[in-house]
Amino acid sequence: MSAVIEIDTERCTGCMQCVQLCVTQAIDVVGGRAAPSARGCISCGHCAAICPVGAVKLPQYPQWDPEPYTSQRYDVDPDQLLRMMQFRRSIRRFTGEKVSRRQIDKLLQAGCAAPTGSNRQQVRYVVLDEQLPQIEERIFASLARYAARRGIEGMQRRYEDFLQDRQKDTLFYGGSQMIAVLAPQVVDGCLAAANIELMAHAMGLGALYCGFAQCAIAEDDALRAFFGVTDDLQLATCLVLGHPAVHYRRPAPKKPAEVVWR
Ligand SMILES: Cc1cc2nc3c(=O)[nH]c(=O)nc-3n(C[C@H](O)[C@H](O)[C@H](O)COP(=O)(O)O)c2cc1C
Repeated sequence: MSAVIEIDTERCTGCMQCVQLCVTQAIDVVGGRAAPSARGCISCGHCAAICPVGAVKLPQYPQWDPEPYTSQRYDVDPDQLLRMMQFRRSIRRFTGEKVSRRQIDKLLQAGCAAPTGSNRQQVRYVVLDEQLPQIEERIFASLARYAARRGIEGMQRRYEDFLQDRQKDTLFYGGSQMIAVLAPQVVDGCLAAANIELMAHAMGLGALYCGFAQCAIAEDDALRAFFGVTDDLQLATCLVLGHPAVHYRRPAPKKPAEVVWR
């Protein structure tokens, strides 16, 4: 088995920060220097991130060569960040202009930056792009069937309105793409999606979590197969994307945290 981490013993100063930080005790000390052991490493990369001299590498990430920390590069003013989070909105009116491939790549990078349990990193994305018009119709049809079975009123009407006039789109609201986020553990996918949604806002794009689509896909075997949903790879959420055709003036109100301190 190839090593999960490599430590350049010439560079290592023996500061032991990586040894102390390693959550699975996967780094030994040999002759006063850090040395990888094969034990339990989850490739979290904390050893490489903390090393003051850049002596640690993870061979599975050969391209990994980030800029070292500077406040200017990596810090964000917390008050500004909070205001941004408060100003973010679910977008239900899109211009119809497509989100570019480059922008979607950046959104996916934001998704990949999210934490995953045990550093699993098994979140998968299906970007519904060219095929969105046909697939949205199939999703809407599945949703209408689902609603009819449960006696939920109004959905069949919404579906028929959509079939007659695509402008009356009360499912994707004219969004140009949709990202289906899949993961073995739903929470991993949801965390990735939260990053994507915030990043979309930061980029001047719009996003909408579409629980209706998620529910409709889960109900339909063909749609499940199309998106690659299996018992082992669950559909965590669906995010509709586009360019917002609406400009908010202020944040929307939210309830304060319900919290118990003990
Ligand atoms: C898991 C989830 C599923 C959602 N599903 C839908 C949906 O199917 N259709 C829709 O119009 N909005 C949907 N929303 C958006 C919520 O209605 C929206 O987040 C809420 O009204 C608060 O608005 P805000 O996001 O602008 O703060 C969903 C949001 C979440 C978190």
